[in-house]
Amino acid sequence: MIILFTVFLCIHIVATMVLAAAFGVEIYAVRAGTVAASRLRAIATGSLAALMLSGAYLTVRMDAWASSWARLAVASLFVLGALTGLTFRRIAGARGVQKDPMVGGIQGLRLGLLLGVVVLMTARPGTIESFALLAASLILGIAVWRLRFI
Ligand code: HEM
Repeated sequence: MIILFTVFLCIHIVATMVLAAAFGVEIYAVRAGTVAASRLRAIATGSLAALMLSGAYLTVRMDAWASSWARLAVASLFVLGALTGLTFRRIAGARGVQKDPMVGGIQGLRLGLLLGVVVLMTARPGTIESFALLAASLILGIAVWRLRFI
């Protein structure tokens, strides 16, 4: 069923875009002190769930569960979910959250990891390259935060 594969791929890509948008809005909303945490949390959680379900379907159809990139994508998705939960726990109702270094650090890590997974999905490298790519993307995320790009 080529059509079903295409539909799930579209869902997968749209979920990636929505997740990136939610992360971006959250970064600037936290800075402005106007974060609507519950709505953003629902959007981020929904996107992560859509990514997991559509990704699982695509992987089954491609018979790719044995590949490192697919397994690392699943692990990264859980890490992204945990980091997102942690951020929302810290920003929900907290005062002075704009200056909380942990929130900024997590936001940087999350952006880096999201970028890393997109490259992972596109390039689908071998095991060592996949680990190196994700490590580099995490370092990039921290650098982006430390250098105050976000
Ligand atoms: C944050 C998590 C994820 C992001 C941002 C993401 C993003 C993407 C993107 C942008 C593509 C298109 C790449 C291309 O066609 O060249 C893609 C394809 C794919 N993704 Fe993900 N993905 C994520 C998680 C997952 C997970 C957890 C799985 C598996 C369970 C998965 C399985 C796949 C598969 C099999 C394809 C290839 C589809 C094809 O060849 O047309 N993804 N993903």
